Amino acid sequence: MEIIRVENYEEMSTRSCEIFVKRLKSIEFPVFGLATGSTPMGLYRCLVKKFQAGEISFKYATTFNLDEYIGLPKDHEQSYHYYMNELFFRHIDILKENAHVPNGMAEDLHAECEQYERLIEESGGIDLQILGIGENGHIAFNEPGSPFNGKTAVVNLSESTLKANARFFKNLYEVPTRAISMGIGTIMKAKEIILLASGGTKAVAMKKIIHGEITEDVPASILQKHKHVTIIADEAALSKV
Ligand code: GLP
Repeated sequence: MEIIRVENYEEMSTRSCEIFVKRLKSIEFPVFGLATGSTPMGLYRCLVKKFQAGEISFKYATTFNLDEYIGLPKDHEQSYHYYMNELFFRHIDILKENAHVPNGMAEDLHAECEQYERLIEESGGIDLQILGIGENGHIAFNEPGSPFNGKTAVVNLSESTLKANARFFKNLYEVPTRAISMGIGTIMKAKEIILLASGGTKAVAMKKIIHGEITEDVPASILQKHKHVTIIADEAALSKV
């Protein structure tokens, strides 16, 4: 695990953007795993800027998002489809058919999960996975207690995640309680992982995942076992490390 300690959110975004761009340029058909939430927004802004400046292209890239709420239509402002389109996809030249987000409106959710997992495998696997982290140490929507070898599945959101994400909805009761999420096993298969963290609300989780024991109670603690993980986190997020 390499840890890059940066001053603030801006620097976290720039540093991750630099690595992303390097992989985008050096891999012929790069496959990226993408995250949502407030943490990677700066990374997407940076990538869009570089695309608009003519420095990079996503024509040969494929992306797989980590997760999506169940029951939110794609045009719902809080769906991850909407987030990705608004903040990233519609500004760049990625081919629509290569930008994957799980379909939380699928009639057969289990078939959707199996197909998503299969698509990732058929793409040759994820070259670089971007991760944020939940306050309770979750990655994607894999809550404490999720199996380390899990595949893409329908998952229930924990009380803590519902509360943390309620800020994006009118109230707590509007937050969907289920999601489709890549499994921890799926995430661990990525060749390289960058975990981003910013702000004091992540400090306890960061301490646990860097120094704590590897346990399913802290989903991200398994990253200690991955052979190519870089944590890019700011002073506040690392204040307990
Ligand atoms: C959500 C997402 C995660 C994300 C986490 C942290 O629950 N499913 O992928 O990492 O929130 O979000 P934020 O970056 O807004 O703190």
